Amino acid sequence: MPSPCAVGATIREIRTFGKQGRRAQIDVAAGPVRIGLALYLPPGPPAPVFFGPNFAGNGSIDPDPAIPRERGWLRPEHAALPPGAHAERWPMDLIVGAGFAGATWYDGDVCPDDPGLCAARGRELGGRFGAIALWAWGFSRAREALAATGLVRADRAVAVGHSRHGKAAIWAAANDPEIAGLVANNSGTGGSRPFRWREGETIAQLFERFPHWFAPALAEFAGRENALTLDQHAALALAAPRPLYLASARDDLWAGPGGEALAYESIRHLWPKHRIGRHVRDGDHGITRGDWTRFLAFFAG
Ligand code: GCU
Repeated sequence: MPSPCAVGATIREIRTFGKQGRRAQIDVAAGPVRIGLALYLPPGPPAPVFFGPNFAGNGSIDPDPAIPRERGWLRPEHAALPPGAHAERWPMDLIVGAGFAGATWYDGDVCPDDPGLCAARGRELGGRFGAIALWAWGFSRAREALAATGLVRADRAVAVGHSRHGKAAIWAAANDPEIAGLVANNSGTGGSRPFRWREGETIAQLFERFPHWFAPALAEFAGRENALTLDQHAALALAAPRPLYLASARDDLWAGPGGEALAYESIRHLWPKHRIGRHVRDGDHGITRGDWTRFLAFFAG
């Protein structure tokens, strides 16, 4: 991933959120990258914070018109998304109600999910980087921006990612020792699913649709996953022994919940006395309020 850089955080607006909470909009400058952070705060002193990207802009998780609509590149399927359509993915009312802060930003601010634009962003940051590594870099810059505001307990910042963002959250936590905890939800291949697991998305399938996500060298293992000498349980082991939580859905076979179960057992074996948790819920790919209820309970303990 790119090197760290100076990070500036400017609080653009703070207003009330719900009955007693507050919402801050923060402009983050990280080298050439501009990130719009939406931060939701419970009443009282600075709280531990769950932080991670969203798929379609901050307005996709909060319909308040005070949040500007995304003007940059969007995934085609999100071009006509109504405001707040993804609110369940970042249920800030639930998070704030449990006494935590929540912070999110549009992943496209850090790296648009497009091969050409991803390569261009890499050049701006001085190299060739996969989107997963760029999004992981974004986690660390967001953590530093949160620390700079003084509004949260940045020493208790838990990286949260769903699906492709779960892959990025794992890589961020593995690389950034200041990240205090990790939630990887339905993170699948290149996330919590070992590449060598028999079921789910293969390296060939991953590169076919998303050639810009990983280092090109990984493609050399397409069809010969068993030749890999390292696998994703090792990345998870680097994120531990900080509190770490994995979540899958029973019908989401593409993400390989059975492989995640193996990775989970292996890190529990490595760190037997540490807080490592997991659930598998019914249903298909997604991140739900029910998932969040369990993340909040795990990190409250
Ligand atoms: C696709 C991709 C997965 C990824 C998922 C997502 O299904 O194949 O690897 O996790 O998108 O990010 O929603």
